[in-house]
Amino acid sequence: LTTGPTLFGLPMKQASLLTLTFQNSALILILHYSRVMRPPGDHRYFASTAVLLNEVLKLAISLTFAIYDASRSLAPQTPATVLFEQLFHSVFSGDSWKLAIPAVLYTFENTLQYVALGNLEVVHFQVLSQLKILTTALFMVLLLGRSLGIRRWLSLIFLTLGISIVTLSSSSNSRNLSFEIFDLSDHFFPRSVHELGQIADDTVVPAPGDLSSPLTRRSATYEGILEDQELVPRMNYSLGVTAVLVAAIVSGLTGVYFEKLLKEPTKTVSIWTRNVQLAFYSLFPALIVGVIITDGKEISKHGFFDGYNWVVWTAIVLQAVGGLLTSLCINYADNIAKNFATSISIVIGFIASVGVFGFLFGTALVITSTYAYALPERKRSRPPPIHIAT
Ligand code: C5P
Repeated sequence: LTTGPTLFGLPMKQASLLTLTFQNSALILILHYSRVMRPPGDHRYFASTAVLLNEVLKLAISLTFAIYDASRSLAPQTPATVLFEQLFHSVFSGDSWKLAIPAVLYTFENTLQYVALGNLEVVHFQVLSQLKILTTALFMVLLLGRSLGIRRWLSLIFLTLGISIVTLSSSSNSRNLSFEIFDLSDHFFPRSVHELGQIADDTVVPAPGDLSSPLTRRSATYEGILEDQELVPRMNYSLGVTAVLVAAIVSGLTGVYFEKLLKEPTKTVSIWTRNVQLAFYSLFPALIVGVIITDGKEISKHGFFDGYNWVVWTAIVLQAVGGLLTSLCINYADNIAKNFATSISIVIGFIASVGVFGFLFGTALVITSTYAYALPERKRSRPPPIHIAT
C-alpha cells in the first residue's frame, strides 16, 4: 500500500525518476537541434529569451499547483482573497530570500547549457556533462554531511565511465539521429540543410579528423560549405567544453543546496511553494542579466521572438517540464538518484545500437553501478578499543 502522492499510479519517487529518464533524452536532442538548425528568419533565436520564458512557464505551473495545495487546506467557503493572502505569505515570508542563490545559479547553468549545446555535438555534451555525477556527490558530502562509503564512490565513478563508454561507442548513431532530424528541416525551411547535404556529397573539403566514414566526411564537407555560406551558426568547441564543465560544477552545487533547503527538518515549506520562490527569483537574473544587459541591444533591433519556431517552443516547454521533474526527484528521492535517472536515459537513448561491444560493456557498468549504489550501506562493528593499563 502506498500512502503519499502518486503519479501515473506510481509513488512519486519512482514516477518522477522514471519520467525524468525519458524527458531528458528528448530535451538534449531538441535543444541541440534548436541551436544549430538554420534559423527560420535572419537570426538564430536569443538563448536569453528562452531561459526567461522557461522561468515564466515554471512559475505559472508551480503557482497553479501551489494554489491547488493551498485551496485543499482551507474550508470550501473560504473567500479567494484569504487563499491568495495565505499563498503570498508562504511565498514571501521566512527564508524565501535563500532561494535567490539557487535562482541565480540555475539561471547561469541553463544559459551555459544553451551555449554548450550550440557549440558541441550531442555526444560530447553528454559525456562531459556526466561529470555532474561526481560533482553532485562531492557537494553532498561537503554541504549535506552525507558519508559515501568506498563502494558508493566506486559505483559513481563506474557510472560516469559506463555512460561515457555507451555514449562514445554509439556516437555514430547519435550523429545519424541528429542528421535525421536535420533532414526534417525540409518541411519547414525552403532552402534546407538537406539541400546542402546534396552539394556536400560532391564537394570534398579537407578537414581535420577521420574522413573515412561517409558520415564524418559529409559533416566535414558541411563545415566547408557552411563556412562559405554562413547559413548555420558555426560551433566553437573550446567554448562548448568550458560551458559544459562549468555547468557540471554549478549543477552539483545548486542541486545539493536546493535539496538542503527542501529537507531542513524544522521547515515545512511545500515543494510547490519552493518552486514558486525559485522561479520568481530566477526572473530577475534571466531578465536583467540575460535579456536586458547581454542581448538587450540586439533584441531591441530584431525583436524578442526573432528566430522562434515550433522547435524552439518545444525546447522551452521540455526544459520547463524537466526542471519541475528535477525538483520532484530531488524532493522525493535525492540528487544522486536524479543523476542516475538521467544517466539511464542516455542508455535508453542509445538502445538502438545493440551489437556494439562498447555499448554492451558500458550498459553492464551502468547497471552494476546502479545496483551496487542501491545496496544498503553495511554498518561496520568495530571491536571495542583496548585499554592498556599503565
Ligand atoms: O543538470 P541538472 O540536473 O542540474 O539540471 C537541473 C535543471 O532543473 C535546471 O534546468 C534547473 O533550472 C531545473 N530546476 C528547476 N526547479 C528546481 C530544481 C531544478 O527548474 N526546483
